[in-house]
Amino acid sequence: MATIAIVGLGYVGLVYGGAFADLGNSVWGIDIDVEKVDKLRQGTMPIYEPGLQELIRRNVEAGRLRFTTDYAEAIPDAEFVFICVGTPSTLDGDADMRAVRAAAETIARHLSGHTIIVNKSTMPIGSGDFISALVEQLKPSDATFAIVTNPEFLREGSAVYDVFHPSRIVLGAEDREAAERVAELYRVLDAPILITDRRSAEMIKYASNAILATRISFINEIAQICEQVGADIKIVAQGMGYDPRIGPLFLEAGLGFGGSCFPKDVRALAAMAERVGCHPQLLHAVLEINEDQRRRFVRKVQELLGDLYGRPIALWGLAFKQDTDDVRESPALDVLRMLLQRGALVTAYDPAAMTNAAREVPDARYAPDPYAAVVGADALLIATPWNEFKQADLRRVKRLMRTPIIVDGRNIYEPAEVRSLGFVYVGVGRGH
Ligand code: UGA
Repeated sequence: MATIAIVGLGYVGLVYGGAFADLGNSVWGIDIDVEKVDKLRQGTMPIYEPGLQELIRRNVEAGRLRFTTDYAEAIPDAEFVFICVGTPSTLDGDADMRAVRAAAETIARHLSGHTIIVNKSTMPIGSGDFISALVEQLKPSDATFAIVTNPEFLREGSAVYDVFHPSRIVLGAEDREAAERVAELYRVLDAPILITDRRSAEMIKYASNAILATRISFINEIAQICEQVGADIKIVAQGMGYDPRIGPLFLEAGLGFGGSCFPKDVRALAAMAERVGCHPQLLHAVLEINEDQRRRFVRKVQELLGDLYGRPIALWGLAFKQDTDDVRESPALDVLRMLLQRGALVTAYDPAAMTNAAREVPDARYAPDPYAAVVGADALLIATPWNEFKQADLRRVKRLMRTPIIVDGRNIYEPAEVRSLGFVYVGVGRGH
């Protein structure tokens, strides 16, 4: 059993806090947000993540997981301190390191004895060295420490499953013994453990997200060609995926990638590359295709409806993907904004993300359920592939709409089936 402090209670920090406690460790979760910590103490989750509430609750009840805003309460006794604060994009595409810097400074001041500081936040390559220098400068003179980079590969929406079933554990350290000690925390999870230098570990995270984003832009480009030549991207992706060198995952064409990771990390990697004199043409293209994908979708709606001014449109989906309430860089929100700019009267619905969406786009209308959103609509747009939409009663939808048109930005329906119900149906890359 180890004593662990987790700094930053976003989805990464909370999921790892819960998981390490579940594995029998004694865990403190620290956040500077007083309200968030109060809520967590009462068992209320600050984010929607399937299984998280249950994971947190059982460990709080067992006394293995506690929350505080006070570093002094948690850091001095911790053997391991995990930095899990956010690194959002700055305006020029770099990672914003202010939260990391603030966390590292405060951790440093509270160190006592020997502590292993583990970077889980996605940080530019070289950040491990930066934190090391910062902590060295600010720590009490008798305290010692080691820095280990440990990128995380959790997916929002399935983070609680992912944390117990990791594809790999990557540890980057100059101090092999420190990496081995962190490895011990994960040993029970039965995943390959790769111990390497810090910079390679930092790059593994960026390169992994970048190749996944690349696959999405690639398949979206192929989808565009499919539309012109009369091929069906779903079948094309299936046929490609049987080749083990290609594999079936991350070949879903649609509105492209959003969320707090892919767009920010690809931009940050491109910005880092430029700074060191490389010209990452592929990364720029990946981002450009991704942004175009949203505009192309709105153009399709315009081609079907003509002028959008004053037209009632239903939008199903606001989250950047299913099973989350996260709307950061959500393609759905971009589509919503573009429709509103063109004067459309949009009524949106999402099973989990409406509160967050209404904060970002207050001038849209939000419906209490998917059917209320489609009443009198001239088109129904699908922007997030929630199961609720896949299972919707489309006959009922058709009766409620003014014009039965579906523009499916996530290819959740089969064109022939939907057309047989009397809809005009347009998907992404479904060229026949
Ligand atoms: C992603 C990675 O998958 C995680 O491994 C990583 O840890 C995480 O970023 C991170 O860096 O924190 P996440 O952003 O939660 O996880 O979501 P994904 O499931 O990867 O989806 C990202 C976006 O790509 C979503 O908007 C999704 O709709 C889109 N997508 C995904 C597609 O358009 N097509 C696909 O085939 C797959």
